[in-house]
Amino acid sequence: MAESMKGLKRTCRLAELGEGNVGQTVTVMGWVQKQRNKGGIIFVDMRDRSGILQVIFEDGEIDSEGFAKAEKLRSEFVIAVTGKVTLRSGAANENLKTGAIEVRAESIRILSESETPPFPIEADSKTKEELRLKYRYLDLRRPDLQNNLMMRSRVATLIRQFLAEEGFLEIETPMLTKSTPEGARDYLVPSRVHPGNFYALPQSPQLFKQLLMCSGYDRYFQIARCFRDEDLRADRQPEFTQVDMELSFVDEEDVIDVNERLLQKVFKEVLDVEVSLPMRRMTWQEAMDRFGSDKPDLRFGMELTDVSEVVRGCGFGVFTGALDQGGSVRGINAKGQGGMPRKKIDALVKFAKDFGAKGLAYLAVNEDGSYKSSFAKFMTEEELGNLVDAMDGQPGDLLLFAADRNKVVWDVLGNLRLELAKTLELIDRDSFEFVWVTEFPEFEYSEEQGRYVAMHHPFTMPMEEDIPLLATNPEKVRARAYDIVLNGTELGGGSIRIHQNDVQEAMFEALGFTKEKAREQFGFLMDAFQYGVPPHAGLAYGFDRLIMLMAKQDSIRDVIAFPKVKDASCLMTDAPNVVDEKQLEELCLDISGTSEEPEE
Ligand code: AMO
Ligand code: AMP
Repeated sequence: MAESMKGLKRTCRLAELGEGNVGQTVTVMGWVQKQRNKGGIIFVDMRDRSGILQVIFEDGEIDSEGFAKAEKLRSEFVIAVTGKVTLRSGAANENLKTGAIEVRAESIRILSESETPPFPIEADSKTKEELRLKYRYLDLRRPDLQNNLMMRSRVATLIRQFLAEEGFLEIETPMLTKSTPEGARDYLVPSRVHPGNFYALPQSPQLFKQLLMCSGYDRYFQIARCFRDEDLRADRQPEFTQVDMELSFVDEEDVIDVNERLLQKVFKEVLDVEVSLPMRRMTWQEAMDRFGSDKPDLRFGMELTDVSEVVRGCGFGVFTGALDQGGSVRGINAKGQGGMPRKKIDALVKFAKDFGAKGLAYLAVNEDGSYKSSFAKFMTEEELGNLVDAMDGQPGDLLLFAADRNKVVWDVLGNLRLELAKTLELIDRDSFEFVWVTEFPEFEYSEEQGRYVAMHHPFTMPMEEDIPLLATNPEKVRARAYDIVLNGTELGGGSIRIHQNDVQEAMFEALGFTKEKAREQFGFLMDAFQYGVPPHAGLAYGFDRLIMLMAKQDSIRDVIAFPKVKDASCLMTDAPNVVDEKQLEELCLDISGTSEEPEE
């Protein structure tokens, strides 16, 4: 029995009421959080996205029909109540925004009833995420998710405002576009009109925003949906949102300046957090050497130390073997962890192996200055002493070493550092540590493809002094690329773009593209550059990641209204799903021979 709201008008949201409204008659609408019947008096907590309000139904104060309705109320019924705002008759509830007041109902309508929900609608839900995602529309009623999405909307509005004031134009670029298989795997959309042909959903608006620069729109931005068919993680979804921008006639300093001010404004206005400018900067090389990661978490220390020179020629074959192969030996000092039980150390060794280490050598400095170690027996007292000194090892410290190719050593120790900080609770959850990482390598070697691939993308300008190395020593070429990193997460990235044909050609050559292949994929961009292209540069943020970090969530699923799960499916709609035979015929698609089982 759903009543209409004819003749009723909501006066405000629930938690917008306060002591200033005492004495007013209001009409409020929302969901029943909880009903408690105490005989002649019924307490109802109403909920909407602003918060909770206590409503009192007292027999006699409200007519018997109204009281009977109040008796029937169950969780998640939607109701409209008209009544008077009064100071609480009982003790004020300090935990509620509206804790000092209540509304004494004079009339009530039940706008709709509700089945018992499959899980309680409450903050900090203990319900399994799968169940919550299946009933996402109920999950989204929970105050933590509502706060996240409200913050998301607020930040988007602020970004739009700020960028508009800075002279950026918001311009949309196509969703149905051309596949350029450089980067992640594309999501493809079959064309009905051109049987056998496919559009790709954009991985980013990259090429279009560069074309907009050619067209003279000198400052562009877009809050753009992007699609990448890659393995999902806590901070990766197959469709996600970028705050994407591109600027003409600028260099690194201009891009960094406008973005630092943008972040400063957003953090101040939304979180009341002061971000001091300029932000820190670090080259990629320094980030790798000190933190073993190109997205260093600067909220704690435990930096890596390169001890290659200290152990060169020592008696421990694992160390010297790695050095002989051109690798390195590096360590971290887990301060005060020398007493860590063997079992826990073994777990760290296993953790290291999961990241590709062949082992993890350890040395605990005992309080009496002696050592407990997996390799001390292979080294002389003097060699050990030098190693411990190099690591600033004090009694009570635990030193952990990896010996391998640089890439493996960084990966292992970088991740071990994060793991130790988490388990030892070294991270201040209230701090926001920004850092720009610059001078990325232009290329990385792909074992899978047997060639160099662009670390950022093929349009990233090499550093001027490295341009001659494109043809001779691509490994050494550094890019004019920059990432903005926050608390160990890559928040965004961008670069100065190549706008000279000869550099672009050298770049394609280094990537192993023939002229024909480059033309086939990027011909329209190369053509556009024939007609007067301004020097330009840009950057894109992962908007979901930004909100995740601001809202202190561990996953971007908690800041996306309708996210997908690990196998890229949606538990609520069951997408992706099979389609009609007829739809397939229209698209000339033959799917016989496919299995329904998703690949692992
Ligand atoms: P990039 O590929 O670094 O750069 O992407 C920019 C930012 O987008 C976020 N991001 C993601 N977020 C959620 N799920 C994903 N699957 C995902 N993939 C990326 C990250 C990342 O830093 N066109 C360039 C930008 C430029 O050069 O201007 C680009 O797309 O936070
Ligand atoms: P082993 O002589 O192989 O038993 O190794 C002695 C110690 O060195 C053990 O603690 C191993 O975990 C460790 N170890 C083995 N390989 C490596 C490596 N590549 N880097 C660091 N430690 C290693």
